[in-house]
Amino acid sequence: MAKSKIRYVCSNCGSISSRWLGRCPQCGEWNTMIEEQQPAQVPPAAAHRQRSGDGCKAASLQDIAMEKMTRIATGIGELDRVLGGGIVPGALILLSGDPGIGKSTLVLQIAAAVCDQSGIVLYGSGEESAGQIKLRAQRLGIESASLIIQADTSLDAVLDEAQRRRPALVVVDSIQTMFCNDIDGTPGSLAQIRESTSRLMTFAKTMDIPVIVIGHVTKEGTIAGPRMMEHMVDVVLYFEGERNYQFRVLRSIKNRFGSTNESGLFTMETTGLSELANPSKLLLAERSANTSGSAIAAVMDGMRPLLGEIQALTTRSVFAVPRRTASGMDYNRLIILLAVLEKRIGMNLGTQDVYINVVGGLRITETAADLPIALAVYSSFRDMSMNSHMVVMGEVGLTGDIRRVPQALRRVKEAAQMGFDQFIIPKGNLEDLDRTAFPDCQIMAVATLREAIERAFK
Ligand code: TYD
Ligand code: MG
Repeated sequence: MAKSKIRYVCSNCGSISSRWLGRCPQCGEWNTMIEEQQPAQVPPAAAHRQRSGDGCKAASLQDIAMEKMTRIATGIGELDRVLGGGIVPGALILLSGDPGIGKSTLVLQIAAAVCDQSGIVLYGSGEESAGQIKLRAQRLGIESASLIIQADTSLDAVLDEAQRRRPALVVVDSIQTMFCNDIDGTPGSLAQIRESTSRLMTFAKTMDIPVIVIGHVTKEGTIAGPRMMEHMVDVVLYFEGERNYQFRVLRSIKNRFGSTNESGLFTMETTGLSELANPSKLLLAERSANTSGSAIAAVMDGMRPLLGEIQALTTRSVFAVPRRTASGMDYNRLIILLAVLEKRIGMNLGTQDVYINVVGGLRITETAADLPIALAVYSSFRDMSMNSHMVVMGEVGLTGDIRRVPQALRRVKEAAQMGFDQFIIPKGNLEDLDRTAFPDCQIMAVATLREAIERAFK
């Protein structure tokens, strides 16, 4: 009888070590190594015999028949777009996001939509009681009889129920609350999550039934504990947004059945999530026209252009080291832009506190927003306002040059549709645009930051 061995597994990245370490050598996290029993090892010879089954013959790519995928379109357009046209049967979909962002609300709405389209949906929840789910359903106006609720923390019980009922979709509300009776560890522990995910995967593939499973995100932005879950599932969706704003974005980080370029936009209302048809309108709803320190940026969210207001405020600093605060954008990017403004434009920002706010809870990750941010800072510093019908895009280089941005045409089109008629764009993007297509618009191409400032504040 082999001696049972102990091993240590990192709860963040899943790397294995034979002894305990304070810091995981793979991901660098501290205090994440957790003791666990090593599973019984199959001797190499036996393992080889097990693997050498027939049934998996190699075939030429040309001879392989095309698998037919009939996706379940949920009717929630923004979700279907992110999934690449709908839910693929047999797919295991991980939905994660911060606590309280609306994951449970979203899956309940998805469940109801699938009920309408294709019959029974099983909703297994270890987070809430059946009564709580009923209460939420009532609030969302869902009364579908074919939506089966099972408030249970035993994953096997939920899967047994699913075997029996053969629903069109299975939902598991939070992998962290589910547990498998025959596995060691508390719910949410590494071993439990790994085993639960693998059982859900087996279920989805053998029954050809799609499964949506919710996973919580820790404050570092990783799915609590194991990143390894992301490797096991077919689709990883992130639901994000600022909790204090209505604006929510559904993104796919990984999708075995479609692209990861698309994103779905929602707003959280008192009656649940509703699709956002015109995001720019919401983002610009309360914009402060004709005041200094405001610029309109056209940024891409996946393949979709969004217009957002960037606000800047510069004030005399009372400290020896001036403050810089960036909300909705990368702090380091702001520091770079301020340095370029100092050196290339000659602005003395060393005595100024600088605050940046991207309005509406939008998060800017694109360098195309460099120029509007720089112009907003300039506008506040000189106390001069920009034309309220002007939209700006461009990446600012360290030499003060303006570099081209991707998808300039889409950005300009969206802005023109929203009634903007003045544009400052990088010179390099001029060839992407047919100026005659925008006869009522004034399109100004600039090569340097100084030129952009001259055009914006003439
Ligand atoms: P929830 O779906 O429970 O979040 P998660 O499962 O991601 O933790 O919902 C979170 C918040 O959404 C909750 O604090 C209240 C709010 N909410 C609404 O504003 N409108 C609604 O119709 C519902 C159901 C929730
Ligand atoms: Mg929840």
